[in-house]
Amino acid sequence: MAERIIYLNNAATSWPKPEPVVNRVLWALKELNATPGRGGTAAASERVLFEAREVVAGFIGAGDSSRVIFTSNATAALNLAICGLLRSGDHVVTTSMDHNSVARPLARMEDTVGIEVSRVGADREGSVTADSILDAVRPHTALVILTHASNVTGTIQPVEEVGRRLRELEGKRPRLLVDAAQSAGILPIDVRVSGIDLLAVPGHKALYGPAGTGFLYIADDLVLDPLLEGGTGGRSTLRRQPDLLPERYESGTPNLPGIAGLAEAVKYVSRTGIDGIRRQESSLAAAVMEGLQDLPGVTLYGPCDPERQVAVISFRVDGLDPAEVSGFLEEVAGVQVRVGLHCSPFSHQTIGTYPEGTVRVSPGLFSTQEDIRALLDGLRQMLGMRRK
Ligand SMILES: Cc1ncc(COP(=O)(O)O)c(C=O)c1O
Repeated sequence: MAERIIYLNNAATSWPKPEPVVNRVLWALKELNATPGRGGTAAASERVLFEAREVVAGFIGAGDSSRVIFTSNATAALNLAICGLLRSGDHVVTTSMDHNSVARPLARMEDTVGIEVSRVGADREGSVTADSILDAVRPHTALVILTHASNVTGTIQPVEEVGRRLRELEGKRPRLLVDAAQSAGILPIDVRVSGIDLLAVPGHKALYGPAGTGFLYIADDLVLDPLLEGGTGGRSTLRRQPDLLPERYESGTPNLPGIAGLAEAVKYVSRTGIDGIRRQESSLAAAVMEGLQDLPGVTLYGPCDPERQVAVISFRVDGLDPAEVSGFLEEVAGVQVRVGLHCSPFSHQTIGTYPEGTVRVSPGLFSTQEDIRALLDGLRQMLGMRRK
């Protein structure tokens, strides 16, 4: 059994969390005793919520912070965007690199609401072109969905180009929803510059916020149906859910310690600088890919190019189930990675690794070259034992 944990599973959730984030969550748990708008230290709680919204809005280039809706994760943000926007008869263009948190709400709506979905195929490296997305758009296309960076291969999609070209379309144009689960905090995102109408972000991955946090940005001219209806802390005489944002989409007691921590995390990432974070993660990704390429019987998937991907690397070892590889890495080398389909079956069909999936390595801000050496040493040890 290994003595220390080497965590290379940041694409699932980042760990460890920065000290200021931990301290801010503790502070909120100790000091805030009220739900915003509902008595006690409500004014302080409201301030924390408002400031968090401003910090997040600034980070993604949103002019109006009331368009930032806090959610419990990226899945909740994607569900709100998809289920809140689409109506019977709408057509959706998406890609074969979708996570199930996009694919499953779409599948349900195909079956029960009567929407139509075109899934644009990515190439074997997980890339889609802006041309193939635009070619799939029809007169009744209401929504285009792009996974900014794949959680299987790390492949980065051409969000800016698609956003710009959708804005150039004449007549009623489709809206652009971006799943930024693997990109927010690593790639710069400006919703206005990139023509993004809906941006779904987890707080707990590359933003280094607490689990149970995330948000959805909604463009100024969009009205969605809420997923949840109920108490909003004000306008209680209204029979139906108020139109006012952010209350329209945030019924019930919010995750105040989580949101306070998320705001601190966004400040931390901004202070550290996402260009520097990207450089550091790219150099770790390069070390993983170079090391894996030198190992006999190892196949790498995705672009294998740090310029075209984030630090998410999938591989397989000839003749071994991915679960055996990750089991060895965890038990003998103390290296934690993630194995299987990563909730993205279409991505694995695209790259030819369905249904077993791959072993996925995802270093983060606190990973080191020493961690990568431990991963590669562990794999060498495993391959050496097989040869004997
Ligand atoms: C591309 C992608 N989309 C959506 C999600 C869902 O994120 P969350 O766990 O925050 O709901 C993930 C999580 O792994 C992801 O990688």
